[in-house]
Amino acid sequence: MAEIAKLMDKLVSLCKRRGFIFPSSEIYGGLNSCYDYGPLGVELKRNVKDYWWKAMVQTRDDIEGLDASILMHPRVWEASGHVANFTDPMVDCKECKARFRADQIEGAMCGSPTYKGRKAGKCADEGKFTDARLFNLMFKTFMGPVEDAANLVYMRPETAQGIYVNVYNVMQASRQRIPFGIAQIGKAFRNEITPGNFTFRTREFEQMEMQFFVKPGTDMEWFEYWKAQRSAWYDGLGIRKAKLQFHQHGPTELAHYAAAAFDIEYEFPFGWKELEGIHNRTDFDLKRHMEYSGKDLNYFDDATRERYIPYIIETSAGCDRTVLTALIDAYDEDVIEGEARTVLRLAPVIAPIKAGVFPLVKKEGMPEVAEKIFHALKRHFPVFYDDGGAIGRRYRRMDEAGTPFGITVDGQTLQDQTVTVRERDSLVQTRVAIDKLAPFIQEKMAGYKRRE
Ligand code: GAP
Repeated sequence: MAEIAKLMDKLVSLCKRRGFIFPSSEIYGGLNSCYDYGPLGVELKRNVKDYWWKAMVQTRDDIEGLDASILMHPRVWEASGHVANFTDPMVDCKECKARFRADQIEGAMCGSPTYKGRKAGKCADEGKFTDARLFNLMFKTFMGPVEDAANLVYMRPETAQGIYVNVYNVMQASRQRIPFGIAQIGKAFRNEITPGNFTFRTREFEQMEMQFFVKPGTDMEWFEYWKAQRSAWYDGLGIRKAKLQFHQHGPTELAHYAAAAFDIEYEFPFGWKELEGIHNRTDFDLKRHMEYSGKDLNYFDDATRERYIPYIIETSAGCDRTVLTALIDAYDEDVIEGEARTVLRLAPVIAPIKAGVFPLVKKEGMPEVAEKIFHALKRHFPVFYDDGGAIGRRYRRMDEAGTPFGITVDGQTLQDQTVTVRERDSLVQTRVAIDKLAPFIQEKMAGYKRRE
């Protein structure tokens, strides 16, 4: 347990120190469960999103992209079931005033100093909790200057509904026919009762969701297809296979809209937890929007002359949660030549910086050559120039930032126009001609395989 807590502490501290993730509004003491992505974090997150977009939209003929607004008509959330059902049971500890989800007090600790070290479950047994009350997780705000019920709008708790209400707009504009999908990346907001575990559960987060519209009767086939596709995506991201598993939702776990659901789970230091949900949502969503909007949302198949409400297979991943997973999975410590090193074994495709460029010493023309290489490579991928301190320390700074390659200009470079390329994971060093550097690194990045 102490080791596990230590790993999270080390990662949180590395994220702050190296500029991956900062607490939000830190100079004011922070804002519970809100985080800001720093220079390396924003690149990592963008790379994760680009990798998803490429896999789900750009390399496919049957999926279109969308960027819907965060604020939607309030009726959307009545139709979706969120106004009535998007609730968690909440209890307060009468002693310490801490708030818990009534269904998640087992592992939680009571916050009162009097009960220090006691599981909240024990306080619950002794009647120190209030009765459970249902709490709706949607954030509310008002449209326009008057703050009354008529102007109430919600911050979307998922991006999916923006896709459903646009299905026929997208279908007509893109001339798609069923089966086809719509993908979207965007912010979602949930007033979680117990956020925590760094960026794992926050109140503001980004989702990467894809809704695939199919003919009823073909839904389970597509469901299996998308399970396999999404699982393979995490392999490509360099996440270790042994750390991933599917979890099938039993009848008591199934959401009100789902006929079948699997989670892709990752073994976090705090247990196996959901990374992505894959759901067979049947015709629930379009039926409800048809009922609430009064618009006909039937699909007419010209070829078969059939009319039906499409079924939806959803793949719903958390972007921040994927970034956290990539960081946890990449975090490693080893010893090189008797010296401890912290290394992030990030897959090159998502690494914020692809290569560090270093002159061995700050003289004999080496910085000039290294700078030239730096500017030339910058046109191909993000690189970082560093001429400060011993070469070993510069390598380690890049290892900690997850940079897969280190390029060193040394005495031999001035003789034969070659440099050494050091690989972060294997520590293999190869001599490469300066004019072959970009293709050499690109080839290495394309062939990257994460060690299990
Ligand atoms: N449209 C379906 C849907 O939203 P979900 O299982 O509630 O399904 C999908 O959410 C994904 O969004 C989760 O698997 C998780 O990765 C991410 N997610 C959900 N709530 C989150 C939170 N409070 N903080 C960070 N990520 C969250």
